[in-house]
Parts: sequence; C-alpha cells; structure tokens
Amino acid sequence: MYVQSSLATYLIALTFLSPAVISGQSTANRASPPLKAIAVLRSTAGNNVTGTVTFTEVEDGVRVDAVITGLTPGKHGFHVHEFGDCSAPDAGSAGGHFNPTNKPHGGADAIERHLGDMGNVEADASGAAKLTYLDHRMSLANDKLSIVGRAVIVHAKPDDLKTQPSGDSGDRVACGVVGRAKSEENQ
Ligand code: CU
Ligand code: ZN
Repeated sequence: MYVQSSLATYLIALTFLSPAVISGQSTANRASPPLKAIAVLRSTAGNNVTGTVTFTEVEDGVRVDAVITGLTPGKHGFHVHEFGDCSAPDAGSAGGHFNPTNKPHGGADAIERHLGDMGNVEADASGAAKLTYLDHRMSLANDKLSIVGRAVIVHAKPDDLKTQPSGDSGDRVACGVVGRAKSEENQ
C-alpha cells in the first residue's frame, strides 16, 4: 500500500513537472521571443472595410490571424503586396503581389505561389470574415522572404487561385502596412 501510493505520488509529480521542465528549457534556449507583426487594414476610397491581421512566428511557420469587417458576403482575395504604401485612394501604390522568389500566382497551399498569396477570406452575411491559417513560406525575420514592411490587401472579388498574375480578384477594398508588433512574451 505504501509502495503503491508513493508510486502514484511520483507519477503525479512527473505529470505536473514535465511540461514545466520542457517549457523552461525551450524558453531558455530561445534567444528572443517569437517575432510578431501586424497590419491594421483601412478602407480604400468608396469602401468601408476595416480589420486587423496579425502574423506570429510559430514552430513550423507563421500563423496568420485575420479579423475583417465591412465586406460583401463571400470570398475575397487576400494577399501581401510588394510595397508598404497604402497612400493611393485605390491602394494601387502597394504594387503587385509580393513575389521575391519569382513564382506564378497560386493558392496559399500551392507548391508554386507568390510568397504573398494567402488565398481568400470569406465574409458571412454580415460582412465579417475571420481566418486563421499556418503559412509555411513567409518570414517575419530580416531576410528576403520577410513580409514586414509590405502591405496586406483585401480585394472586392474572390481569388480564383490560378489566373495570372493576381487571381482575378478585382479592386482593392482595404490596405494595411505590415509592421512589427509587440511580441506576446514581451508584454
Ligand atoms: Cu492582392
Ligand atoms: Zn499572387
């Protein structure tokens, strides 16, 4: 009986200790907190679309979380464009899709795609869209695949994920420059 209960205590202790030990190690081994970036979307002329897109460095890529309102119901092309310049009334100043690897346009899961191709966001009947996905191509670091300093664009129409060079997704209804955000572990 004594042996059994001390074994049970030992096992319970292990169960509670292990996660603490593992997370303690990974925090100690990491030079800096995970990188995080944010784009605050503002409407282009004649539209009423706003939203926030955050990009968070995770183990196997970058997690993209988008919350957007003011859309027409249905799918809307959603990309990172080349320049962090939303100044033109139609956001044409943001340039084309960010494509540092010189690939054709495609969907977020395509083998070949522009680095900025994030597919579509889909708005409900109220015009609100939420998207969370894990991107395996983009970077938030200081390298040529980094989307920091570029712009997120939301379009009027769906991205068909195949028409070149931009998926036939029509006008730009919102634009936001991607900037560095405070990392969660820094707060
Ligand atoms: Cu676009
Ligand atoms: Zn593209």
